[in-house]
Amino acid sequence: SDPAEMFRPSFHFTPEEHWMNDPNGMFYLDGTYHLYYQYYPEGNVWGPMHWGHATTKDLINWEHQDIALKPDEKGYIFSGSAVVDLENTSGFGNDSIPPVIAMFTYHDPEGEKAGDIDYQSQAIAYSNDSGYTWTKYQDNPVIPNPGLKDFRDPKMLRDTINDQWLMVLSANDRSFFYASENLKDWKKISEFGLNTGAHNGVWECPDFFPMKVEGSDEIKWVLIQSLNPGGYNGGSGTQYFVGDFDGKQFTPEKNMQNLEEKHPFWIDFGRDNYAGVTWSNLPGNRVLFMGWMSNWLYAQEVPTEKWRSSMTIPRDLILKKEDSVYQIYSEPFREFKNYRKQISVKNSGESNFVVSTDTGDFLQNQFTFELPLKDRKKVNFALTSKSGDTLQFGLDIPSKQFFVDRSKSGMVNFKDNFSGERSTAPRLIDSETLKVNFITDRTSIEIFYDNGRTVMTEIFFPEKPYDSFAILEEGLKPQNLKVYDVRMKLSKK
Ligand code: FRU
Repeated sequence: SDPAEMFRPSFHFTPEEHWMNDPNGMFYLDGTYHLYYQYYPEGNVWGPMHWGHATTKDLINWEHQDIALKPDEKGYIFSGSAVVDLENTSGFGNDSIPPVIAMFTYHDPEGEKAGDIDYQSQAIAYSNDSGYTWTKYQDNPVIPNPGLKDFRDPKMLRDTINDQWLMVLSANDRSFFYASENLKDWKKISEFGLNTGAHNGVWECPDFFPMKVEGSDEIKWVLIQSLNPGGYNGGSGTQYFVGDFDGKQFTPEKNMQNLEEKHPFWIDFGRDNYAGVTWSNLPGNRVLFMGWMSNWLYAQEVPTEKWRSSMTIPRDLILKKEDSVYQIYSEPFREFKNYRKQISVKNSGESNFVVSTDTGDFLQNQFTFELPLKDRKKVNFALTSKSGDTLQFGLDIPSKQFFVDRSKSGMVNFKDNFSGERSTAPRLIDSETLKVNFITDRTSIEIFYDNGRTVMTEIFFPEKPYDSFAILEEGLKPQNLKVYDVRMKLSKK
């Protein structure tokens, strides 16, 4: 069978063919979620960047749309964002529907080749048909390069607290903040990043937004900041900071002002969730996040070839304050539970817990359960296939380290650093019960431990689909186990 199709996930977004990286310009309008993405429509590795486009009404079924933005004489179209200009502050609107404004980075490959450093600048485009067709602004760039080699990935938002448009972008290993009244004229207002967080790489793809602390009326501001390399497990990774914003300057909480390289504030500790950002213009205070489910360490070599890379499932982010520490939890997007059907499974293990399913595989499933950890040293889970491939993951209890080991998960030899060492993640709560919630979709696992406090997302390529799930420790049984098949159709309202 064709590996390109056998490895293609079903409810995670993938391009029909060719290369994709970061999610861009995500916004919501009138029941439709828009996704643009870094796209090279002529090859299966990174190349001259376009913005591909897809839409969804349910976050499960995706529709491909025409390419939204193409490179021109000013350069390639790098990552960026989009906002709905409800009050037509930009003046780009022309009738009853609000204009949508996108900001992206122009990357001038000629300047790069010539050895210049000022080849990245910020530019805008607008849409008068809710995001399907775009016109580039005639006076681009709106923010010229200030003499910095890495100067990109603008993320805009409407700051309703201070009544202004805001934008944050990445500059070498700092975040720069800008403000505007009309989305065309931008003024730099502050910088962030000195002395804190992971810096062993270039900062990329930031996001910035206020969040209500769960269970209170307190508002905190969150800065998401991807970097590559230098992620928690090497390569690409996404850290975050929580703090206050006075309309100009972001000030992180005390405990986040001097974070070391290997600090515990990461949106996802797994190897495959990068450059993620949130949708703009969502109703309510919802913070809905999605990342690129790959890693620059090996993204261009994965064995899908015809298409490369998929997105994570969208996730609701929740800000909690526990023991005076603010931290972000992630959960599969709320409506996901309407697209699954519980299936029955029977333990067939002799001394340990093993389940398989009547459908013959665990291609697209969700497992939720709890495990008593008392008097145990470790927990090892295994997803295994008839080809003998096995993905192991679990927890070392004394050291409070989760891990994913994909060294025997299937095809791994396409790149040395794909299997390599296990990835690890800290367990950040003390509880004698481990809550596990994981989702598979052919070639990915997204594990939400402890209600989403520690998340690990990883991809893999087994020769045959995994068809059994086991807990390797003797006598260790899951409690409240629920196994679901994920459906593409609404199964309940
Ligand atoms: C992150 C990134 C961005 C850049 C884009 C280019 O993965 O390097 O910083 O805008 O990809 O495709």
